[in-house]
Amino acid sequence: MDAIDIIVTKRDGGELTPDQIDWVIDAYTRGEVADEQMAALNMAILWRGMTRAEVARWTDAMLRSGDRLDFTDLPRPTTDKHSTGGVGDKITLPLTPAVAACGAAVPQLSGRGLGHTGGTLDKLESVPGWRAELSPAEMRKILADVGGVVCAAGSGLAPADRKLYALRDVTGTVESIPLIASSIMSKKLAEGTGALVLDVKVGSGAFMKDAGSARELARTMVGIGNDNGVRTVALLTAMDAPLGNRVGNALEVAEALEVLAGGGPDDVVELTVTLGREMLAAAGLEGAKDPADALRDGTAMDAWRRMIHAQGGDPDAPLPEAAESHVIASPASGTLTTLDAHAVGVAAWRLGAGRARKEDPVSPGAGVTLHAKPGEEVREGEPLFTLHTDDPDRIPRAAEGLSTCYTIDTPVDRLPLIIDRIA
Ligand code: URA
Repeated sequence: MDAIDIIVTKRDGGELTPDQIDWVIDAYTRGEVADEQMAALNMAILWRGMTRAEVARWTDAMLRSGDRLDFTDLPRPTTDKHSTGGVGDKITLPLTPAVAACGAAVPQLSGRGLGHTGGTLDKLESVPGWRAELSPAEMRKILADVGGVVCAAGSGLAPADRKLYALRDVTGTVESIPLIASSIMSKKLAEGTGALVLDVKVGSGAFMKDAGSARELARTMVGIGNDNGVRTVALLTAMDAPLGNRVGNALEVAEALEVLAGGGPDDVVELTVTLGREMLAAAGLEGAKDPADALRDGTAMDAWRRMIHAQGGDPDAPLPEAAESHVIASPASGTLTTLDAHAVGVAAWRLGAGRARKEDPVSPGAGVTLHAKPGEEVREGEPLFTLHTDDPDRIPRAAEGLSTCYTIDTPVDRLPLIIDRIA
């Protein structure tokens, strides 16, 4: 096989054979195909696309590049959720224990944030003592004992994707639907879940800015999952405004705790309960306890406490708070009509909640509190945002980005929270 033939085939709009795909993924992972050749192939894929058969084989080749966990011997069925990422998206935190409290096992492998969207591991690492790195044996034990585990994906799972994603990140080839779908699904299939619910975000704060491309991504991923024997459904959900009222690591854990205590913002609760019901149904647990009841009766909170404790965390320790805060007041009275998710994500990132390079630390207490969400009334001179940071020099740039990210009393068509369901 020859990398140049493969690149030229795709460049000219041809379909790659299964053998070509298997060879190029394997040879690239072993370092036999050079980065510049893989970059050229990725760019050809971005322009020319892939057939369903090509995407399936590409995903399978990445899956076979590493280990695949197997939890079929657990007494409970496994089910998981993956979100394509959004601003204030802390849903995994209440969802995993809520679904565990309803009888399923949730093996959630998560990542750290890069850019304006936060990572679930960064959020959980703001809980004192909590550790993300677990061996497969530890993960299995916590799943069996508690029913839910959120941890870092080990380097043995889909190593081809790890290498390929880093290359796509620096070669302008992240935004290809077949490449995004195969990247996400190779990791989710490797984690060994029996059922999967995808939360595909749509809007300014998401990868997919419009419902059409989000729907295509969702259909591609649902096809890959079901073709591989994992019952997969997708919801398209709104990411034009942030989820909930807090954006930033410890701030989002605090909000998740409100939801686990039976309160919390309506949009976070609605999405948690909707995704939880889908996860249980996909796992074949239609008659199970309802996640809304698990949030109300304290069993989801009990599962959270056991999950945190099992990973070395102290569920009773106070969460870190940023050293400085700064309030931005509303310039007018009226109804807040829009609040741009991307701008809020960038402001939280500038305050220290996110990182610019993979190696950077995050500030656990940094972020933004939103005092109003679209549809709510605001009054001139009253707080609209509170900025939290350890470094006051960061405040002016964050505040600048927020000054034009909302409208008051301008009529708009907002996306519904749940836009579509694809099965
Ligand atoms: N998340 C992934 O894991 N892979 C992509 O390609 C994009 C988002």
